[in-house]
Amino acid sequence: MKRPVLLLAALVLAGCGDANRAPAGLQGDAARGRIALAQYGCRACHMIPGVTGSKVYVGRPLEDMAKRPIIAGTLPNNQANLVRWIRDPQAIDPHTAMPVLGVSERDAIDMSAWLLSH
Ligand code: HEC
Repeated sequence: MKRPVLLLAALVLAGCGDANRAPAGLQGDAARGRIALAQYGCRACHMIPGVTGSKVYVGRPLEDMAKRPIIAGTLPNNQANLVRWIRDPQAIDPHTAMPVLGVSERDAIDMSAWLLSH
């Protein structure tokens, strides 16, 4: 009699795992990206879905990123451009207030996977 319950629990757990995965077509590990967004201190200037911190508005809130046609006022929004921006915003806009934070390529890909799926 216990088996159906265990099976159900396993299915529920498998479902939770999928929720952390980026939608098809995105590179990277969104769950790891969420941690990287916290570790690099992006939250000091941006509100980010799923990353806790106080309310800040230095940069725009990074929610619904997948719905934006343009990022940072200049770049067409796609994963490659998001990674470029995160790694070196000053190369794209020398006047931007966003600093270069030394984000590795892998971390930037993972961050973009989180941002484009939340
Ligand atoms: C010192 C403050 C600061 C920090 C820290 C910071 N940003 Fe930014 N960010 C900004 C500002 C200001 C802008 C707006 C730039 C512009 O439009 O020229 C911006 C823009 C962006 C954009 C484009 C948003 C849009 O609406 O088009 C993304 C994406 C972004 N930041 C991601 C990050 C990530 C990821 C991190 C952490 C690695 C980070 N930022 C850290 C200040 C910051």
